[in-house]
Amino acid sequence: MLKDLFKDYRYADAKKVEYLQVDHTTFCNLLCPQCGRVYNGKFDSVLPRKELSLDDYKKIINRDNFPNLKRVFFCGNFGDAIASDTFLPALKYLKTLGLERIDLVTSGSMRDADWWREVAKVLNGKKDLVVFSIDGLEDTNHIYRVNSNWKTIMRNVTAFIETGGRARWDMLVFKHNEHQVEDVRKLAKEMGFIRFSVKRTNRFVEIKDFEELKEKVEKPKEEKNKGSVVKELEKVKETYKDWNEYVDKTSINCKFKAHGDGLFLDFEGKLWPCTWLAGIGYKPLDKRTEQMHKNLVTEYGEYFNCLKSKSLKEVLNNKWFKKELVKSWRDFDHIDKKKSSVCAMNCGEISYTSSSEKNRSFEEL
Ligand SMILES: C[S@@+](CC[C@H](N)C(=O)[O-])C[C@H]1O[C@@H](n2cnc3c(N)ncnc32)[C@H](O)[C@@H]1O
Repeated sequence: MLKDLFKDYRYADAKKVEYLQVDHTTFCNLLCPQCGRVYNGKFDSVLPRKELSLDDYKKIINRDNFPNLKRVFFCGNFGDAIASDTFLPALKYLKTLGLERIDLVTSGSMRDADWWREVAKVLNGKKDLVVFSIDGLEDTNHIYRVNSNWKTIMRNVTAFIETGGRARWDMLVFKHNEHQVEDVRKLAKEMGFIRFSVKRTNRFVEIKDFEELKEKVEKPKEEKNKGSVVKELEKVKETYKDWNEYVDKTSINCKFKAHGDGLFLDFEGKLWPCTWLAGIGYKPLDKRTEQMHKNLVTEYGEYFNCLKSKSLKEVLNNKWFKKELVKSWRDFDHIDKKKSSVCAMNCGEISYTSSSEKNRSFEEL
């Protein structure tokens, strides 16, 4: 698989890039307890408060840089794009590029009905989609989606769908809402959502210690609602002596490469290989990835991958993108600790992300 996708060690060829995921901002009005943006119930101050500007989009995402770009996927690691005033202008600009598809993943718990009608008019492509992350019904959604407002969400979704917008309902399952899956599906259908997806979270597991976390929200009781990583870890523990050996030895099957040379742009304009590596400057996962990020910054500078100040060509020709990242997965005989535990966690034998097929179901309504 790797051999087919990576003819050489180069991570991505700008001309071939079809998919960009964007974390537009670190702003959000919610405080979901398992979100990377939240620490001890509050906004985590290791993160800057930032957003991309319309000028950033014009400079970075244009047809000179990405002649083959087909899809922009707004799904933040740390923020919700709707919380930013520059988001709608950016969306309108992106529509002028003739993309095949734009997706937005959001709580929907902000802005008024007119704003959502406008989003529906802009996202009018055959494949455009807004994914509303709503984890239950009126009496449960706010338990995980702290600070969300049910009436606001329902009003906004209605305005969006009535104006012709295509919407999917994504529901994370916890102990407090797993009994409501059927009722949520029914409501989603009644409201005109075109798709419904149940997502099982792996965030009850502290992956680097192979341990379960104690959280304010509780994991689901039903087996079918539990994230896949618990079982995957059992296997991995039998094969490897510890986490470090697992990271060294597991082979990497890069999920972003499978998106057609996919890349990730963060709220500072920094380009990353994927959504998971994009977080390492703020939330490094473990000592190993913290060190790997420090080495990158020491060797190439803090803004080595920033498209506000560097050209796309410069960034993709940086040694990390051009060689070191892919080499770190492959040269198992010369393990130099450059391989990131983040790659091993999401694209190794373990697939931690709740977005993978293993952790969710999709249903047309
Ligand atoms: C950080 S959110 C940002 C976008 C938006 N605020 C939202 O919540 O959909 C990005 C993704 O993380 C997912 N997410 C949030 N909490 C999660 C959890 N505990 N487990 C798995 N995925 C989670 C959301 O469903 C969404 O797909």
